[in-house]
Amino acid sequence: MEKVKDCCCNEGCKCTQDLSEAQKISIIDDFINDYKSKEGSLIQILHAAQSIFGYLPIEVQIHIAKSLNKPLSEISGVVSFYSFFTTAPRGEYTIRVCMGTACYVRGGKKILDRIKDILEIEVGQTTADNKFTLELMRCIGACGLAPAISINDKVYKQVNPERLNEILTKYYE
Ligand code: FES
Repeated sequence: MEKVKDCCCNEGCKCTQDLSEAQKISIIDDFINDYKSKEGSLIQILHAAQSIFGYLPIEVQIHIAKSLNKPLSEISGVVSFYSFFTTAPRGEYTIRVCMGTACYVRGGKKILDRIKDILEIEVGQTTADNKFTLELMRCIGACGLAPAISINDKVYKQVNPERLNEILTKYYE
């Protein structure tokens, strides 16, 4: 279990994929016991819960609220305030399209529209096969090679529609 605790993955940790719901809750309880007396513990606990479940369903938020003896509104308020928390299941891969000025001017919007067409999802949604979640991002410092997108931790620069097809196809091989 210690290995899971050290995991910093924020997009559905692979090392907890095969655990039952009860086992996942048990890991969260360990986190709560370890962190609840520390400052900023709620954020840490929510991060841990999201890394274990891949998202923060209402049932998990209720469990955390009860365990910390806090109102659910406080938990859900924090979850909705920070964009890195999500209450919906995420895809295996998160595509982020840069909407910074350079990328936007050099075709970022067209790339975004093309991704939406190909995957048949809007920003913030996940494909039906749970493969991809689509998000926007701000400048990542690759402006000279705009437009840029990222898929999980990998950054793709100078993306154009043809290249986009190749990139996405790779994730289905
Ligand atoms: S504007 Fe997209 S990388 Fe800078």
